[in-house]
Amino acid sequence: MTSDSITSITVLPGRAKDGGQETFDEIAIRPGDTISIVGPTGSGKTAFINDIEVFARGDTITGRTILLNGELPPDDTVRDPAQKPIALITQNTKCFADLTVREFLEMHARARRIGDDSRVKSTISLANEFTGEKIGGSMRITALSGGQTRSLLIADAIVISSAPIILLDEVESGGIFKEKVTASLRDHRKAVLFVTHDPVLALLADRRIVMTNGAVEKVLVPNGREKEVLLRISTMDRELSAFRERIRAGELLTIQEGTR
Ligand SMILES: Nc1ncnc2c1ncn2[C@@H]1O[C@H](COP(=O)(O)OP(=O)(O)OP(=O)(O)O)[C@@H](O)[C@H]1O
Ligand SMILES: [Mg+2]
Repeated sequence: MTSDSITSITVLPGRAKDGGQETFDEIAIRPGDTISIVGPTGSGKTAFINDIEVFARGDTITGRTILLNGELPPDDTVRDPAQKPIALITQNTKCFADLTVREFLEMHARARRIGDDSRVKSTISLANEFTGEKIGGSMRITALSGGQTRSLLIADAIVISSAPIILLDEVESGGIFKEKVTASLRDHRKAVLFVTHDPVLALLADRRIVMTNGAVEKVLVPNGREKEVLLRISTMDRELSAFRERIRAGELLTIQEGTR
């Protein structure tokens, strides 16, 4: 299934942990949408993402139902990895095999029945737009840094999986250009949902789902009202990253002229 054949994913309400009904009517997700999911530990963020991943039909612990283009999706769409419209990346997603970047992508392309070699190349160049540390096709996957691995996995989900829906569950944001990644997901008309504790990423999304006690408590639609705050925390975030880099580089930190 490609982005063109997907017009919407709809989440229908289920139950909170205490058995109470969720109060939203439905949450519709369309190509190009970016949605962040926030809430305390144990509030059901991962369960929400998983419901979408498996196309729940009232058969998961939350009782939610997920529709594809307004209907329950046929079995082969959901089970066949070559057709599955969803790519899920989690904190634990690792590339186990000791392959080069190119071999890893070629292997995935074959599994997705893609014969076209240029896709591997475009994945590598997209990954390089997401991180400042250069990724080469002949590098070993196991030798990549955290930021490089995350960039490669996201680029892989965009180009090779060509899954129209991308789910990210607490994928750390260190070593990746957040604005660049979210802009690229929008440009590629991906629908993306991410669970995040990163304030910049949470605010970069168009909508923010707030979870409590296993249920969706509310869906915030900032519509530009958080723009100034986003600008402010992005600046703070960049400053913090610069300090982090200097600590890593072994510097002794003192307030320098102009940084006060
Ligand atoms: N609506 C629900 N009804 C019953 N159990 C639920 C519901 N939602 C989540 N749970 C259960 O509650 C536990 C915590 O949920 P989950 O792992 O989704 O939380 P989380 O917000 O992702 O937490 P963390 O921030 O620690 O990753 C899990 O065992 C999950 O199966
Ligand atoms: Mg979780």
